[in-house]
Amino acid sequence: MSVPVVTVATKPFEGQKPGTSGLRKAVKVFQQEHYTENFIHCVLEAGKTVGQTLVVGGDGRYYGEEVVATIIRMAAAHGVAKLVVAKAGIMSTPAVSAIIRERGLCGGIVLTASHNPGGPDADFGIKYNCSNGGPAPDHVTNAMYGLTTQISQYKICPSLVCDIHIIQTSVFQVDGVGDFTVEVVDGVDGYVRLMKSIFDFPAIAAFIKSFPVLMDSLNGVTGPYVERIFLGELGAPPSSVRNTKPLPDFGGLHPDPNLTYAADLVATMRGTDLYKMGAAFDGDGDRNMILGERGFFVTPCDSVAVIANNASCIPYFRGGVGGLARSMPTSCALDRVAAALKVEMFEVPTGWKYFGNLMDAGRLAICGEESFGYSLPSGRVYPQVQSTLRYSLPSGTVYPHHLPSSTLTYPHHLPPSSTPIIYPHHLPHPLPHHLPSSTPISTITYSHHLPSSTLRYDYENCAAEPCGAMVARLRGLVDGVDGGLTGKSFVDGEKSYTVDRADDFSYTDPIDGSVATQQGIRVIMTDGSRIVYRLSGTGSSGATVRLYVESYERYEDGQEDRYLTDSQTVLRPLLNIALNIAQLKQYTGRDGPTVVT
Ligand code: G6P
Ligand code: ZN
Repeated sequence: MSVPVVTVATKPFEGQKPGTSGLRKAVKVFQQEHYTENFIHCVLEAGKTVGQTLVVGGDGRYYGEEVVATIIRMAAAHGVAKLVVAKAGIMSTPAVSAIIRERGLCGGIVLTASHNPGGPDADFGIKYNCSNGGPAPDHVTNAMYGLTTQISQYKICPSLVCDIHIIQTSVFQVDGVGDFTVEVVDGVDGYVRLMKSIFDFPAIAAFIKSFPVLMDSLNGVTGPYVERIFLGELGAPPSSVRNTKPLPDFGGLHPDPNLTYAADLVATMRGTDLYKMGAAFDGDGDRNMILGERGFFVTPCDSVAVIANNASCIPYFRGGVGGLARSMPTSCALDRVAAALKVEMFEVPTGWKYFGNLMDAGRLAICGEESFGYSLPSGRVYPQVQSTLRYSLPSGTVYPHHLPSSTLTYPHHLPPSSTPIIYPHHLPHPLPHHLPSSTPISTITYSHHLPSSTLRYDYENCAAEPCGAMVARLRGLVDGVDGGLTGKSFVDGEKSYTVDRADDFSYTDPIDGSVATQQGIRVIMTDGSRIVYRLSGTGSSGATVRLYVESYERYEDGQEDRYLTDSQTVLRPLLNIALNIAQLKQYTGRDGPTVVT
């Protein structure tokens, strides 16, 4: 079939600048005439895609199928040789990464606004991943943005129609361009193959027979993956999964796996003894939240530390673990694992793209972020579904259901192959002040470690201008305005902290020397406690302020039960200090956060 190419005149739209994770805007913004086409043109151009093969997938949200059709028509006209398209457009972000790497593709386009709500009145997004499987680095997204400011025309094949609901390969003859192939593939197959090559599926299948789990896909893209892996491969009963049908509006749910938006899962877990572990996933499947029995919340900062600490239980890592990395606001728990394992440790800015170079250079094997994303090896494998199961492998650490994050075990005393730490299953909710005497708390030795407590406060949808002013003032403070912060002491109640150093985080990539500046204000205390302020880079309107606090408390032997104190109680003084330093209430007008994690 011969398909004509049409050149369409257009004008630049303002603000097509990819953020932390692609271009993310309201659906209605993308629906403006030429808006989506302009951006896709610039993606294809900056990605150097002529004559190459790309994959296209997404999280099934509203407007996704239309955009897949547009990408097919534009890729044909642009001279892309082949598109691998996920059936019905459904492919998680990790699965897109996996297929790029498995097939050695030039890159991939992911249609998602990640954890933002979907539907005609909600958000849409377009992300680009490069040949290493990871998100496009700054120099590529900057090139895209530059092109969006100059665009005057794009090419498209308006008459090209391709059914993406049937697994098939079609070849089109594009006038003046040549052959263009579209291969529609199952979005789940390749990912499952990869997971089976990394994890010990038979061991996990045997284990979950007596360790029931509950997976909540929040009507996002992970549903088909969770069903295939947990029900199909691991033989879990259907009651182990929920909300597994990807829906254009996520069934009204907010597909952000945290204690606020995955409230149903939390309530179910708190109200029953039936499940030993729960997990929820975001829209495109690159974030997860882990809950232990009775809804015990495992902070993602600790999750990645636990995974790294028990990496030798994962067949892929039997030969050893390379370096570890975390984003700057992520707690330093992982640093302590790195120290114990004697491997390199990196602190990068927020955003998955900053891990890419380190992975490609073989310096990084496991990394994670406080924003609920982790990755294991093979570059951006993002085995989100299985990483949750790591907690339950018999030889690993089984997560306690009520112990707050501060009690998490850190290495020296827990070599990766140590005996599992299994907490009693009968701790009541809320937290007990005293552990039942049967608690094998002594299996965790704190004395040589400083367990951390962490909290993130989000102030969503604030007015952009005052938040910008707040950050500008903080930048001034860390640069020494008004005497600066270094050396100053702050007191709240009985606690006092002295600032050791404060800065606006900047990062020099050890591989290519590129520099990222203004990545978040850090205030680091002499005892290692930290306050971090940054503005979210993933919102679609207004500003979201994120405040992260982390503290270290060491209790004397015999007082270990104090580690069970709720993080919000432990961190209250530091939180108060953080709010005061930033004058957060004055600038945002908010009395409290929208979300606490
Ligand atoms: C996306 C990226 C993550 C990053 C997060 C930051 O989810 O994939 O790598 O941590 O955005 O989001 P924020 O809203 O805090 O900028
Ligand atoms: Zn996501």
